[in-house]
Amino acid sequence: MSSLQFWKPGTSAPGSTLDRDTQAEGSFISSAPSYAPLSVQSQRERLPIYKHRDKILYCIEKYPVAIVVGQTGCGKTTQIPQYLYEAGWAAEGNIIACTQPRRVAATSVAGRVASEVGSILGDEVGYTIRFEDVSDKERTRILYMTDGMLFRETLVDPLLSRYSVIMVDEAHERGIYTDLLLGLLKKIQKKRPSLRLVISSATLDATSFLNYFTSSSSKDDAIIVSLEGRVFPVEVAYLREPTADYVKSAAMTAWNIHLQPYPGDILIFLTGREEIDRCLEELSELIPTRPKHPQRLIPLPLHAGLTSDEQLSVFDTADRDTRKVIIATNIAEASVTIDGIKYVIDSGFVKIRVYNPRTALASLATVPTSRASATQRAGRAGRTAPGVCYRLYPISAYETMADSTPAEITRTDMTTPILQLKALGIDDLMKFDWVSSPPSESVLRALEGLVAAGMLGEDGRLTVIGAQVAECPVELGIARMMFKSKDFQCGEEILTIAAMTSVQDVFIIRDGAPGALDELERRKFTAEEGDHLTLLNAYNAFVRYGKSLSWCKSHALSFRAMSRAVSIRSQLKKYMQRFNLPIQSCEGDGKRLRQCLVSGYWRNGARWVADGTYRSVRGNQTLHVHPTSVMFTRKPRSGWVVFHEMEETKKTQIRILTEIEPDWCAQIFVSLKHRESHPSFPGFWNMATSSWTRGQLRAEQ
Ligand code: CDP
Ligand code: MG
Repeated sequence: MSSLQFWKPGTSAPGSTLDRDTQAEGSFISSAPSYAPLSVQSQRERLPIYKHRDKILYCIEKYPVAIVVGQTGCGKTTQIPQYLYEAGWAAEGNIIACTQPRRVAATSVAGRVASEVGSILGDEVGYTIRFEDVSDKERTRILYMTDGMLFRETLVDPLLSRYSVIMVDEAHERGIYTDLLLGLLKKIQKKRPSLRLVISSATLDATSFLNYFTSSSSKDDAIIVSLEGRVFPVEVAYLREPTADYVKSAAMTAWNIHLQPYPGDILIFLTGREEIDRCLEELSELIPTRPKHPQRLIPLPLHAGLTSDEQLSVFDTADRDTRKVIIATNIAEASVTIDGIKYVIDSGFVKIRVYNPRTALASLATVPTSRASATQRAGRAGRTAPGVCYRLYPISAYETMADSTPAEITRTDMTTPILQLKALGIDDLMKFDWVSSPPSESVLRALEGLVAAGMLGEDGRLTVIGAQVAECPVELGIARMMFKSKDFQCGEEILTIAAMTSVQDVFIIRDGAPGALDELERRKFTAEEGDHLTLLNAYNAFVRYGKSLSWCKSHALSFRAMSRAVSIRSQLKKYMQRFNLPIQSCEGDGKRLRQCLVSGYWRNGARWVADGTYRSVRGNQTLHVHPTSVMFTRKPRSGWVVFHEMEETKKTQIRILTEIEPDWCAQIFVSLKHRESHPSFPGFWNMATSSWTRGQLRAEQ
């Protein structure tokens, strides 16, 4: 595959063949003319949004909901909160919030805005993401946060009374928490009409938001504010033939662009960390083949598994004689701005979380992008100058793509969201004003699971433990484990496991082949019983040996992940203390600990079968053990395991497994089975159909 044949629609010639052998070296055209650095103020005034400043402020003043539509890069995310700040919306201790679907967007944009405002990050301008709060209770006026964090805040402050304006950014992406938040905000605004909402969206599905916020009686509920954006043309090229390995093709295409004598950074879209690592490897093999090339190629990964600091490094401006190639997941698609990108290479795939209500199992699946995403990705190349987008698929594949990705609420596990809605006092789910309703089967399965787990009573009402679990910032199952640790006297260990399963990539995979994962190093921590106890051993050893970087290095552990786990653990410990949960140690009694694990993973049970795979308890689905598991080559003595999560790649793989005894979970599994085979048991049916009058916000009571 020394050359990939691309074709640009509208050309009849063979098209753009990026062939490394036809390009001359040494004739590099130096980058665009250099400008004297502009002052912050004049930079801000040069943004396309600037001339709409007064109109935006007027509409926010006059209308409860302003839906702002403008091209990516025109300045919505960074400027609107500042305009509001300057216009006095943060007076009298009020806060202007701007929500983002992703944590990297919240942190990077907060950094940018803090520097524009001339403040230290965490002072006037701050951010709040799960397990990381860089804001000041007294002084922060502009707060960027994930939409999930603001949604959670309604549990403690149902009217979100600290905020004068809430901007829901990237609403068109329709993430689950964006949708839920919009539903709540609409409700809150009825109670507190002074609250102003700004809904921002890069694409033109603004009318559906307008309809959602407009009542039949009034025309003044909401308005669309359209901002003309600066757009540079982006040429799109398609592969002539499909590629069997888009990761390799992406590396190849990037390399071929690099060998051409034109400046500009490259952004590659792949689906996940493993692909990104493989692409980095492909590139690192190519780079030494041209040692004398006038420009250095610097590959940089960008995915959710990196720390905020690592993610931010991709935003640094490259030196003049270097070219950045950023290899990213979908997180670079909409919400982050990376200056200098001139070339986009789009694999055409994305990893999304999908939920199968039949088996009640959620998994990550790699699927083709929608056309809307393809357009959005291509747009990344035209932010500062005309660009080119190389799509690693033929135009015929583009033609079969869906127009847009369905809202997450239609394809996600509703268990946690429903528990949270119940905790907000919204009992009548039928009456909740959904932007898009979740499928009734997902709702029923979620209710059923919550009843089985004791978080809802058979009447569909929240139990005491349910209310407390809803407040914990970890996955439902993990939260339940934390509460159940009281019965099993193992809070100390469960806290560690909760923290360790909240961080990614604890073990460093040195040679890139997950199957050969530094066995020798890891064996030191390996617990017979499985991955959870192995993680526990690793954590305890890390703490025992002084939490040192060099110790991590010599034990193939990620210092970053381990340090994060320490911080998360101390935050979770505060929750346990708040709920008066004892933090006792099981003193090495692995059996008790594993029984406690079962109480959290009540939905994730699997049984070993003779060919070395597993079958899920729910749905009888074939599951493969992820190669990073200590159970990869081992049959569980009992034949049964629970697992932390599953991921669908070419096959369905389960990660973080622990051996269990089937009779520990019989009670839970049997009760679930019972409900599956009797889907009309009374409580379950009532919950979906009856209309309780408690369907109000707590504050209304
Ligand atoms: O939200 P929207 O896509 O409309 O734009 P924005 O994120 O507010 O970005 C406005 C401009 O600020 C971009 O065109 C970039 O030039 C610049 N920016 C940046 O340089 N670095 C950032 N982290 C964010 C924005
Ligand atoms: Mg934006």
